[in-house]
Amino acid sequence: MSIVSTKTNANLAIIIIDNPPVNALSHAVRLGVSEQMEINAQKDNIEAIILMCAGRTFCAGADISEFGKPPLAPGLPELIEQIERTNKPVIAALHGTTLGGGFELALSCHYRIMDVNAKVGLPEVHLGLIPGASGTQRLPRLIGAEAALEMITSGKAIGASKAEKLGIIDQLSSENLENDAILFTQQILKENQPIKRISDLNVQAQADVFDNFRKKITKKSRGYLAPDAAIRAVEAAVNLPYEQGLIVERDEFATLLSSSQSIGQRHLFFAERMAGKIPDIDKTTPVREIKSTAVIGGGTMGCGIAINFLNAGLPVKLLEISSQAADAARDKIEKIYLSSVKKGRISQQKMETTLALLTCIDNYDDLADEDLIIEAVFENMDVKKQVFAKLDQMAKPGAILATNTSFLDVNEIASSTGRPEDVIGLHFFSPAHIMPLLEIVRTEKNSPSIVATALKIGKMIGKTSVVSGVCYGFIANRMASCYSREAGLLLLEGASVEQIDKTLYDFGMPMGMFEMLDLAGIDIGVMARNNRPSDSYDNAAFQVHDSLVNEGHKGQKTGMGFYQYSDGNKLTNPKVQELAIKFAAENGIKRREISNQEIEERCVFTLINEGYKIIEEGIALRQSDVDVVYAMGFGFPRYRGGPLHYANHIGLKVIVEKIEKFAKLYGARWWTPSKLLIEQANKE
Ligand code: 3HC
Ligand code: NAI
Repeated sequence: MSIVSTKTNANLAIIIIDNPPVNALSHAVRLGVSEQMEINAQKDNIEAIILMCAGRTFCAGADISEFGKPPLAPGLPELIEQIERTNKPVIAALHGTTLGGGFELALSCHYRIMDVNAKVGLPEVHLGLIPGASGTQRLPRLIGAEAALEMITSGKAIGASKAEKLGIIDQLSSENLENDAILFTQQILKENQPIKRISDLNVQAQADVFDNFRKKITKKSRGYLAPDAAIRAVEAAVNLPYEQGLIVERDEFATLLSSSQSIGQRHLFFAERMAGKIPDIDKTTPVREIKSTAVIGGGTMGCGIAINFLNAGLPVKLLEISSQAADAARDKIEKIYLSSVKKGRISQQKMETTLALLTCIDNYDDLADEDLIIEAVFENMDVKKQVFAKLDQMAKPGAILATNTSFLDVNEIASSTGRPEDVIGLHFFSPAHIMPLLEIVRTEKNSPSIVATALKIGKMIGKTSVVSGVCYGFIANRMASCYSREAGLLLLEGASVEQIDKTLYDFGMPMGMFEMLDLAGIDIGVMARNNRPSDSYDNAAFQVHDSLVNEGHKGQKTGMGFYQYSDGNKLTNPKVQELAIKFAAENGIKRREISNQEIEERCVFTLINEGYKIIEEGIALRQSDVDVVYAMGFGFPRYRGGPLHYANHIGLKVIVEKIEKFAKLYGARWWTPSKLLIEQANKE
C-alpha cells in the first residue's frame, strides 16, 4: 500500500494515510493527501471525501524529525487551508491518538467522527512549541477561548466523550469506524448538510480571560516560553480576523521552533524513545511473562511500587516484617487511593476492584508463585542480602528478583542468591507511583532476556526506562550526590540556604537543593552516607546535614531542617548559618560572598562532568540517557534538554575551562574533568 491511497465507496472517496508507526505528517504524506484531495475534489462521481488512517492511529502530528530541515511544499498549513477550501464535504474519521498537526488536519475537515476509545490533543507545548498549523486559530473558534487555552497550554489529550461535549466532534463511533464514517457521510449528503468551515466562525471572550489564564498557569509554566506564546496566539484568534490571527500564530511558532527551549525539549522527546533501544536486545529477544508480582517492604517506596502494578491490573503481594506492619502498608496504599477518589481521579468502584488485587502478608512462604519480586527494604547491604537469600529459597525458578536499592552494589546483592543472573535493579523514584522514570540496573550476569523483560515491565507500568550499569548510585544518584555535595560546600563557603535554593530554582529546578532535602528527609541521605566508606564522599559538605539530624531536625516531617516550618510557612532556620560558620572554621574554609553565577556553575557543571564520567566508564550507554535520567528523575528543566544537552548549548570548551579553574581553586578531587568531556570539547 502506498503512503496515501484512495478507495471509492459508491459516491465517496476514502483517502487513507498509511505511514507507520504513528502516521506522522511527513512530506510524502502531505504531498499524497494534497494530490488525492485535488483529484477527488474534481471527480464528478465523488460527492464527499473521508480522510482516515491505517494502523494504530490517525496522524499523531507533524513529523518532528523534519523540524529544523528546509521546509518542503506543501507545508502543513497550506495543506490544511486546501482541505478546508474543498467544495465537497470532507469528513475526518479519527482513531488512536490524533495529536498536534494531526488534530489540526482534522479541524480543517468539515465534520469529524471519532472512535469512542480515541483521543485528541495539541501536545506541542511539550516540544516547546505551539500548534503551528492553525490549531490556535481554529480550536478557539470551535470550543471557545477558555477551553482551547486549557487544551493548548496543558498539552493534555482528551477522550472522545469530552471531545463530544466540547463540540469538537460531530459523531462517536463505537463499532467499525470506516463503516460508521460512511453512514455518517451519506447522512450528511442526504440531509444536504452545509460544508462547515471552522475558520468562518467567530470567537469572543471576556476581556479578562487571558490575563486570568496567564496568572493561573504562571507557576506551572515557569521558565517555559511556549505557554505564553500560545496565550498570545489564542488572544489573536479572538481579536483579529482569521488570516491575521494565522500570521500571529506562524510568527510565534517560527520563533519557538528555532529557540533553544524547543530544541532541548525535542531532544528529550527522541532521547526518551532512544533509551529503550539496547544494542544486544531486539524484537526477537525472548521476554519472560509477568502476571503476578510481590513487593518486599511496605515503606515509602514499597507502597508506591505496589501501586504501579495494581494500576496495571496485576495482583500484588506486599510483604512486611509483621502483620501489623503489613496492615499499616495496606492502610497507606488505601489512603493514596482514597485521596484519588476524593479528587475525582478514579471512581470508588475502580478503587475497590484495584485494591482487591492487593494482599498484604508477613510470610515468605506465600511468594512461591510470583513472576516478579521487587525488594524495597532498608538501604542496608546485610538486610538486603538476607532478604535475597530467602527469596532465592522461596521464589519459583524463572522469577525475576529485583532490588530498588538507591546506591548499593547490585552484583553483590545478586551474589547472595544461587541465581545471580535473575537478579536485577529496578530503581524507582519517589513518589514511585507518580515519578515517570525507571532506572534498570543491569548486572554483570544479566542476560539480554532479563533486561528485555525489565524494559517490558517498565512499559507495563507506563514508565520511561533507562538502563544503567552497576556503580555507586547508578546514573541518577551518582550525579545527584555531586550536585548535593557542591550545594553543601557552597553553604560552608558563605552562600546562604536561601541564596543557593533560589539560584537553583531560578535555573529551572523544581525546587532548591535544601528545600528538596527537607521534603525528602535529611536523614535519608545521612543513612545512605553511613553505608559508604568515609573517603568516598566529602565529609565537610554534609556536616551541617549530620548535625541537624543528630538534633532531631530531619526536615519537614519534624517541622525543622534547613528551614523552619510553621503554619504552612517556610522560614529561615538561623541555626543552619551558625552551623555553617562553625564547620567552615573547623575545615579551614574561608567564608566569602559567593555570586549566583558561581552557585549555578558549580552545581550544574559537576553534574555535567559526572555525566560524562558515567558514559566514559560505560555505566550509561549514551549521552541522551543521562539527560533523560536527570530530567525525569530530578526535574532538570526540560527546556534545557538535560544536563549534557545543556552542556553543548553552553559549549564544552567553556565547561572544561571552568572545571579546570574550579580544580585550581577547590582542588582536583572533585574537579578533574572527564577524559571524554575533554575529548569532545576538543572536537568543537
Ligand atoms: N514525528 C516523528 N516521529 C514520531 C512522532 C512525530 N510526531 N510521534 C512519534 N514518533 C515516532 C517515535 O519517535 C517512535 O520512533 P521509534 O520507534 O523510532 O523510537 C515511534 O514514532 C513510536 O512512538 P512512541 O514510541 O512514542 O509510541 P507510543 O505508542 O508510545 O506513543 C504517541 C504514540 C502517543 C503518538 C507518541 O508517539 C507521541 O506522543 N508522539 C508525539 C505527538 C506530538 O507531539 N505531536 C505534535 C507534533 S508537533 C506538531 O504537530 C506541530 C504542528 O502543530 C505544526
Ligand atoms: P522505608 O524505611 O520507608 O521502608 C522500608 C520498609 O521495609 C519498612 O516498612 C520496613 O518495615 C520494611 N522492611 C525492612 N526489613 C524488611 C524485611 N526483611 N522484610 C520485609 N520488610 C522489611 O524505606 P524506603 O524509603 O521505602 O526505601 C526502601 C528502599 O528503596 C531503600 O533501598 C532505598 O534506598 C530505596 N529508595 C528510596 C527512595 C526514597 O526516596 N525514599 C527512592 C528510591 C529508592
